[in-house]
Amino acid sequence: MWDPAVYRRYGAERARPFFDLVARVGTGSPRAVVDLGCGPGELTLSLAERWPGARLTGIDSSPDMIAKAVAHGGPVEFRAGDVRDWRPGRDVDVVVTNATLQWVPEHRELLVRWVRELAPGSWLAMQVPGNFGAPSHVLLRAVGERYGVGGLLREAPVDDPAGYAALLTAAGATVDAWETTYLHLLPAGPEGEGEGEHPVLRWMEGTALRPVKAALDENAWQSFRAELARELSGAYPATGAHVAFPFRRVFVVARTAEEEEGTG
Ligand SMILES: C[S@@+](CC[C@H](N)C(=O)[O-])C[C@H]1O[C@@H](n2cnc3c(N)ncnc32)[C@H](O)[C@@H]1O
Repeated sequence: MWDPAVYRRYGAERARPFFDLVARVGTGSPRAVVDLGCGPGELTLSLAERWPGARLTGIDSSPDMIAKAVAHGGPVEFRAGDVRDWRPGRDVDVVVTNATLQWVPEHRELLVRWVRELAPGSWLAMQVPGNFGAPSHVLLRAVGERYGVGGLLREAPVDDPAGYAALLTAAGATVDAWETTYLHLLPAGPEGEGEGEHPVLRWMEGTALRPVKAALDENAWQSFRAELARELSGAYPATGAHVAFPFRRVFVVARTAEEEEGTG
């Protein structure tokens, strides 16, 4: 269901939060690093530059994403798998999960389990979009209701930074949680661009629109697309050559407690 080529549109904008996240992981020489929901793998490969001595693994449930990732070659072991089934080995010092856990309703329980199972002094770094109340998603849900697919569109699948901080502090971790709203200036496209085109729509096709596309037949999908594009043009008008698209993201970096002296 994931299309790596469509997902890679706006790759630079999607990559920036990953680097902002990983920059807050304060370890110099982890033994093993795992990227959960690694997608097409480019960002996972960048971890080899940050931690050249680490054993790197990327896991994703989409066979198409894993096929793209494996095709890069290089120092990462990519494999298909569901993050819900993953359990940390004792040498995993860093877990990264970027733009994935919003698709996993039970991710709060997983985060707590991972923090409890990771070795003392390990790092868990996650980023999820926090834009489910933004006009893009409000309009998506409104148009979705008209096409009978409203049930597929999640209202608030993620928490705010304070929610995750409370959850993981209670699980015994030291937490650094924050949010950032990036202002993406997306190229507006040629003047008079056809009905059914808008840069925010093209962005959403890579992620939030996938379940809708999968549920509708081709005619209904094309008409849904055109209707949403009209609504998005009102909410995100072009100013000159760009459409300004604010995008809120939620970040959490948790560190598990160090082993107490004398207990190791
Ligand atoms: C928005 S992409 C993010 C990819 C990559 N982390 C990045 O930052 O570019 C979300 C990824 O999560 C994966 N995913 C969603 N649910 C998953 C699950 N339960 N287990 C493993 N991967 C999952 C999808 O296949 C997709 O590749």
